[in-house]
Amino acid sequence: TDTFTIAIDGPAAAGKGTISKAIAAQFGFAHLDTGLLYRAVGARVLSGVEPVEAARTLQPQDLERDDLRTAEVAQAASKVAVIAEVRAALVDFQRAFARRAGGAVLDGRDIGTVICPNAEVKLYVTASAEVRAKRRFLELTGKGEVTSLETVLTDVKARDDRDMNRAEAPLKPATDALTIDTSELSIAQALKVALKEISALR
Ligand code: C5P
Repeated sequence: TDTFTIAIDGPAAAGKGTISKAIAAQFGFAHLDTGLLYRAVGARVLSGVEPVEAARTLQPQDLERDDLRTAEVAQAASKVAVIAEVRAALVDFQRAFARRAGGAVLDGRDIGTVICPNAEVKLYVTASAEVRAKRRFLELTGKGEVTSLETVLTDVKARDDRDMNRAEAPLKPATDALTIDTSELSIAQALKVALKEISALR
């Protein structure tokens, strides 16, 4: 059958989610936000479940919890994400999704490097920590969360540090990824660059 995998990696709040959804819609591909898996494990850990157990027994309904987008769960996610056994428990699900008939877009931190090293398209979407913190601040306050720009910047930097410097599947661009820096691009402009790359490889 016809499979086609697009791997999109990058740090928090760089615009990956929006770009991934738009790409998936454009080509009629399925989309998996892999951060949601780690967030769901993090949320279960905050509820008292042991991390490896939480990853191994993750259920579809765990991905439906409405607290997954909070700053607290984001930090918990990046803490469980350093544990090798937690990551290992989530590999098969992600790889099966990637090989779905009809094409798939997966976004996360290690899709192009570890989960789908043979993906047909690899993008690394990034932006300065300041620009990302500002975007995340607007997103969180828009949803009614009470926070400050300074707090969000500190959180973004702490998460970058954990994601980039962990031993297991650290966040970095795959050697064959196209990097798109969205610091001075609108999401629409970044999407245009991404679509051009995909069309060239498709
Ligand atoms: O993308 P999102 O911000 O929702 O991810 C939450 C956390 O999950 C990240 O900070 C990272 O620690 C972890 N993660 C990961 N590998 C992925 C996706 C997310 O380690 N593929």
